[in-house]
Amino acid sequence: MRKKVTIVGAGNTGATMAQILATRNYADIVLIDIVEGLPQGKALDIAESAPWANFSGSILGTNDWKDTANSDVVIVTSGIARKPGMTREDLLSTNAGIVRSVVTSAVEHSPKTTLVIFANPMDVMCHVALEASGFERNRVIGQGGMLDSARYRTFIAMETSSSVKDVSAWVMGGHTEATMVPIVSNATVGGVPLRQLLGDQKTQQVVERTSKGGAEIVDLLKTGSAFVAPAAATIEMVDSILLDENRILTCCAFLSGEYGIENAYVGVPVMLGQGGIKEIYEIPLSDSEQAEMIVAGDAVKELVDLIP
Ligand code: 2OP
Repeated sequence: MRKKVTIVGAGNTGATMAQILATRNYADIVLIDIVEGLPQGKALDIAESAPWANFSGSILGTNDWKDTANSDVVIVTSGIARKPGMTREDLLSTNAGIVRSVVTSAVEHSPKTTLVIFANPMDVMCHVALEASGFERNRVIGQGGMLDSARYRTFIAMETSSSVKDVSAWVMGGHTEATMVPIVSNATVGGVPLRQLLGDQKTQQVVERTSKGGAEIVDLLKTGSAFVAPAAATIEMVDSILLDENRILTCCAFLSGEYGIENAYVGVPVMLGQGGIKEIYEIPLSDSEQAEMIVAGDAVKELVDLIP
């Protein structure tokens, strides 16, 4: 039987996720939104691309939660996006209410699903989703490290004039400018250490550009935030879960003592497969990277305390 994936929110991000996932050809997709006509129109447009885009699964646009029943994965993109000058934290109270209600409905119709949280501030919304769902921590996973690592890899490839395929570099920590932890100590291109290729100053510039990667796009677009790279990053996670690929990817996971962090969602390497997170890995970090991880955990906990 084909897998079923519900994408909540038919904005740019949700629709782009649906488009990318459709071309993977293993899942039936439900795109749900409260705006009447929007998910139906976007789903129909994507469905009509199938003859040329070479996929054959079904894609349904709906406003009715019943259509989402028994989804294997539910991706939550709903919520307002950033405008220029706004931080992800500015979205906190509005998006907490939206995510709580969406997750409650999703879980009612798909009690065995795995939740992938995209809405910002993503780390904090994972806490909202964990509580609203009542799920175990392995079934509520945040996207964040995946997108930030994609940006980090892209910028490293640009600076080193190398293929992005050979760049191995991960962003751990939080999904905010102040709490992102682009890991330099184990970043390589084809096994060659990043610092050796770029030197300290250029490496630092790449790290800073990565941390500000989301804002760079918001400032350019002026009407919203990035959606293509975020969608690609999220669907990579969904693939690993539903195809049980056991990929080790950096995602936002609830930590219970790992890296010295208790009870906070923070980006760390995890094994993703059937049922969600199978393993959380503690890897060697430099002293400053480890200190930044603690800062990231504390920052999430401070925001969680502000959730209305
Ligand atoms: C970003 O960093 C949308 O949070 C997302 O662009």
